[in-house]
Amino acid sequence: MKNELALEFSCVTEAAALAGYKWLGRGDKNMADKAAVDAMKLVLNRIAIEGEIAIGEGEIDEAPALYIGEHVGMGGDPVDIAVDPIDGTRMTALGQANAIAVLAAADRGGFLHAPDMYMEKLIVGYRAKGIIDLDRSLEKNIISVAKVMDKKLSELTVVTLQKPRHEEAIRLMQDMGVRVFAFPDGDVAASVLTCMPEKDIDMLYAIGGAPEGVISAALVRAMDGDMQARLIPRNKVKGKGGDSEETLNIARTEIERCEKLGIDVNRTLTLEDLVKTDELIVSMTGVTKGDLLDGVSRNGDLAQTETLLIRGKSRTIRRIHSTHFLNMRSEELRKIVL
Ligand code: FBP
Repeated sequence: MKNELALEFSCVTEAAALAGYKWLGRGDKNMADKAAVDAMKLVLNRIAIEGEIAIGEGEIDEAPALYIGEHVGMGGDPVDIAVDPIDGTRMTALGQANAIAVLAAADRGGFLHAPDMYMEKLIVGYRAKGIIDLDRSLEKNIISVAKVMDKKLSELTVVTLQKPRHEEAIRLMQDMGVRVFAFPDGDVAASVLTCMPEKDIDMLYAIGGAPEGVISAALVRAMDGDMQARLIPRNKVKGKGGDSEETLNIARTEIERCEKLGIDVNRTLTLEDLVKTDELIVSMTGVTKGDLLDGVSRNGDLAQTETLLIRGKSRTIRRIHSTHFLNMRSEELRKIVL
């Protein structure tokens, strides 16, 4: 994939973050998401690519825009696109930290076409590459990671999501002496923290969305980390509510979708199964201020954004601080962001 596309992709996540900002703290996560989707689609369609959405807002009958299989771009090189216009819609609606807009692009066929269901994820940075194994217990994985990183268990930090389904795992890790950071939402940003060489986070263990999992895998691969994952039907995640008829029906549909896509639900997926190429570009812009990125700040027509732009082939991580004169943007974009 052409390196020049990287800057174009950064404009896409910047636009989505600026659109999300308009809805910051307004209590409406759906409007925040819609604005970010509209902005992303608008800017993506100005890029000279033959783009196809591999991971997006859902299937064609569920999402009006950025649905799986949708063609984007003005024509050019064939590129697969995985997007999460806002990872952390609830955080945006509530003005909480760590919401991001993210896009990953790969050569055609580069991403696993994962259905929208839950995924169990284990992620480490480059220093612990090659030693994680989701078929072994969480406890054994933690011990292996500590060993290879030459750290005591009390020096190890694991990041996860603060969800009822993780209570047992959080207790287990804390009982082992490990420090656990549990974010309310947003496992893509948490995945990146695990791989940032300068950050003190050693591992991610979480059950979150599968689409977010593939986007995280793109980031992890681009940053030379490691990941294993497993798709999980909804009834196995929802604890006590897991045996309701509604949940069981959703779980059946999820399994059928996996079968159609040729994915074995019970198989542990490696990083190479999730993302098949190093020809990757990932762009991520902060919507709200977080551990990784500054959020959007705005003063009238003038806005600032911070973006991480990562190139898989060269493993380069760039930070871009941009100032946007919003009144200079196209009328269509101004309608979405102002
Ligand atoms: P959205 O902002 O797109 O809703 O996703 C937030 C998120 O926390 C993801 O990062 C995570 O993968 C997923 O939701 C977890 O799902 P759930 O909210 O059902 O626990």
